[in-house]
Amino acid sequence: MGFFSLITCYDDNRLIGIDGQLPWHLPEDMQRFVEITKNKTIVMGKATYDSIGHPLPDRLNIVLTSDKSFKAKGVQVVRSIDSLLNLKPFHGEIVVIGGARLYSDMLLFCNRMYLTRYNRAIDVPKNSKATYFPEWNPNEWRLARYDCTTRKDCEFIDFVRA
Ligand SMILES: NC(=O)c1ccc[n+]([C@@H]2O[C@H](COP(=O)([O-])OP(=O)(O)OC[C@H]3O[C@@H](n4cnc5c(N)ncnc54)[C@H](OP(=O)(O)O)[C@@H]3O)[C@@H](O)[C@H]2O)c1
Repeated sequence: MGFFSLITCYDDNRLIGIDGQLPWHLPEDMQRFVEITKNKTIVMGKATYDSIGHPLPDRLNIVLTSDKSFKAKGVQVVRSIDSLLNLKPFHGEIVVIGGARLYSDMLLFCNRMYLTRYNRAIDVPKNSKATYFPEWNPNEWRLARYDCTTRKDCEFIDFVRA
């Protein structure tokens, strides 16, 4: 039977994006992202797909959008959360990779969370659009794995549903 998980990287304020882009460049986190998602199915919102600009290799890429005309080579399009939840056949892990809107819609259905804590409070420039990971209740999750990284300001923390 399949299950949903999510992967994210956020700062002290749960910031995940500024003006449609990642607010940082963290090669350690990128490497972890590849290791965790490789050979799995990933699902992303249209804004996150646009910010990446192409399907990610060695993964089945699903993009969520209400835009009926959207098509892209190497991408499976899904138009609602219901269709995503009813994908068939669905074996293994589908990893939700963002952004903020998709995390909010899918958090409830995820039973694993791969979190990178970037232990800084990144400045959001005036007049820019910041996006944040939704508030979540730590009592609903338990720690599954913790790794410090070569950087003191970055921790890898995996949670599963309590
Ligand atoms: N730090 C991290 O780990 C991380 C990870 C991923 C992304 N990000 C950042 O997050 C930002 C993007 O996040 P975002 O919240 O703006 O956008 P998003 O969630 O990536 O995409 C939003 C779009 O996806 C579609 N969508 C989402 N939920 C839907 C639903 N329930 N039904 C139908 N369509 C749905 C809609 O597309 P249509 O408008 O076309 O219908 C919506 O406008 C960027 O800055 C990105 O760099 C950060």
